[in-house]
Amino acid sequence: MRGRGALVFALLGWLGCQSPAAEDEAVRGHVPPERFGLGAPASAEEIAAWDIDVMPNGEGLPDGGGTAVEGKPIYRARCASCHGAEGHGGPFDQLVGRLNGDSFPFGNDPSAPKTIGNYWPWATTIFDYTRRAMPLDSPGSLSDDEVYAVTAYLLFMNGLFREDRVLDRNSLPGIVMPARGRFYEDDRRGGAEVR
Ligand code: HEC
Repeated sequence: MRGRGALVFALLGWLGCQSPAAEDEAVRGHVPPERFGLGAPASAEEIAAWDIDVMPNGEGLPDGGGTAVEGKPIYRARCASCHGAEGHGGPFDQLVGRLNGDSFPFGNDPSAPKTIGNYWPWATTIFDYTRRAMPLDSPGSLSDDEVYAVTAYLLFMNGLFREDRVLDRNSLPGIVMPARGRFYEDDRRGGAEVR
């Protein structure tokens, strides 16, 4: 009786010590390789293709440019069905519209439509957002020149940029949006990344 109890105890102890990896090894009878050799290091070119963010101060804007005149047909063909021919009245977000005296009623009236012209503090965000996310049905399909042109057209429709002026990495960061002074910068990292 005593002997059998000790044997059961010993067996339980042995089972408890077996880690899953050790069990695997015991089952398959070999040690797994240190590296599995899957994947490959990303090339500088591959990383650059994903690294397309544009900062509020324009850092990261690519070469190229375009005017609102060039942007109008692109907007009509690629954006108007969702955002309306004039940037409002479409099934999705209103993009165009200023409020009287550039007032900012959103704190009291959350239902007021937020547009590029009355709410966005940085013009550079239009380029960044459009390039990465729009048109919704085929993001990334516009060339940089086309994104500049359509951004120029959106700014023009909001009364913030001349129709024939070239929007590019020099002119875009200089546009002061009506809502610029309505936001507080999150300065916990010194504000360096937004200036
Ligand atoms: C198939 C419909 C569709 C098309 C086409 C489309 N959009 Fe949009 N767009 C949307 C939707 C839906 C949203 C809201 C996305 C969200 O909130 O995540 C949006 C949001 C936006 C916003 C942000 C609005 C805001 O104030 O938050 C901008 C700017 C914008 N689109 C620009 C464009 C431009 C420029 C084009 C054409 C190049 C375009 N969109 C084409 C559906 C579309």
